[in-house]
Amino acid sequence: MHSLLSTRARQQTTSAIRDLLEQAQRPGIISLAGGLPDPSLFPTDRLADIAAEVAGDADVLQYGLTAGQMGLREHIVATTTAASSTNEVLVTTGSQQALHLLSSVLIDPGDQVVVGDPDYLGALQAFRGSGAELVPVTIDADGLDVAALSSRITAGLRPTFVYVVPHFHNPTGVTLTDTRLTALLELAEQNGFLVVLDDPYRDLGVAGAADEPAHHANAVHLRSVSKVLAPGLRVGWMIGPEWLLEAVERTKQSADLHTSTISQAIAHAAISADWFPDHLAGLQAATREKRDALIGALVDRLGERLTVNRPGGGMFVWATFADGTDTNELLDAALDHNVAFVPGAAFAVAADARTSLRLSWATATPEQLTEAVGRLHAAHAALVSA
Ligand SMILES: Cc1ncc(COP(=O)(O)O)c(C=O)c1O
Repeated sequence: MHSLLSTRARQQTTSAIRDLLEQAQRPGIISLAGGLPDPSLFPTDRLADIAAEVAGDADVLQYGLTAGQMGLREHIVATTTAASSTNEVLVTTGSQQALHLLSSVLIDPGDQVVVGDPDYLGALQAFRGSGAELVPVTIDADGLDVAALSSRITAGLRPTFVYVVPHFHNPTGVTLTDTRLTALLELAEQNGFLVVLDDPYRDLGVAGAADEPAHHANAVHLRSVSKVLAPGLRVGWMIGPEWLLEAVERTKQSADLHTSTISQAIAHAAISADWFPDHLAGLQAATREKRDALIGALVDRLGERLTVNRPGGGMFVWATFADGTDTNELLDAALDHNVAFVPGAAFAVAADARTSLRLSWATATPEQLTEAVGRLHAAHAALVSA
């Protein structure tokens, strides 16, 4: 690395997934690796109509407020129980920017941040980039193990915040139970830390959108239109206490002045349109169909050799080989068989996830998912017999 780079830039790791996705884009590969929404489900015609209309309004081509367009923030306040005023809502350039901004305003080098093990790589990168000491806590079928966290706190752990993807977690697909969420927020209140609820998958439940976590003084909610409209819009928002949002706003000003006004206008018009609930219902039905196709094929083809969970929505299945298969090695064989996934170790902080893998059903069709699992099965057989 160049000597002119700051210590912080040198510490910034690149995402293993990003490197892998480049390979997974080779022609002929069916990729179950990325979390890319299915482009055939983007409401492209409707977004094109909205874009044509809003682009004629000079106001949406002008600079805007750092905290975000008032109309969008008012719509958010009107449709959430987590905020009661626009001062508690700040629009971000996707929820990834929210993670970066929160890292900047909350983390001093050495501060403790609790994350799940395994957890979303983009969050781990953002927190590490600010010099946080990541404190991994196990994730099981009910989400983050809050009782284990509580014991660690009794033993002296003092986190600045706890990071949670409450619904259909990336990478494990699990949902934090209400009991655990309540216990976590109580712990936060008693011990003076924040809980960051990063919730981009909530609307992708196979049985409809999951319930929104209610307002709490110690909670920061992150939302995004990436998984329900189109990630290229780069529109998300943060809901949180005013003292925090004021600091975030000052930092965001120096980062990008504000999120694209035209993107905000498109996102606002789309999420408040009368067709939007039907669009969500369509995404939920597609989520069910794809999830069932992927899990059905995994159970059929790999049977007892692979333990697979059954998430209630989102984009990801987490699977673990019972026969000790190392998924880093399997990936090489899988790429030879034109199928890609992400080895579990990529998301692990301290846990040993060498025999696990994350599979995404989001991008492929049900037929491609079935074909991909056939290829994975062949790759596994080739590895075992090698
Ligand atoms: C848990 C989680 N948080 C945040 C993001 C970033 O989403 P965006 O910046 O597109 O809103 C993702 C993307 O995959 C994610 O899985």
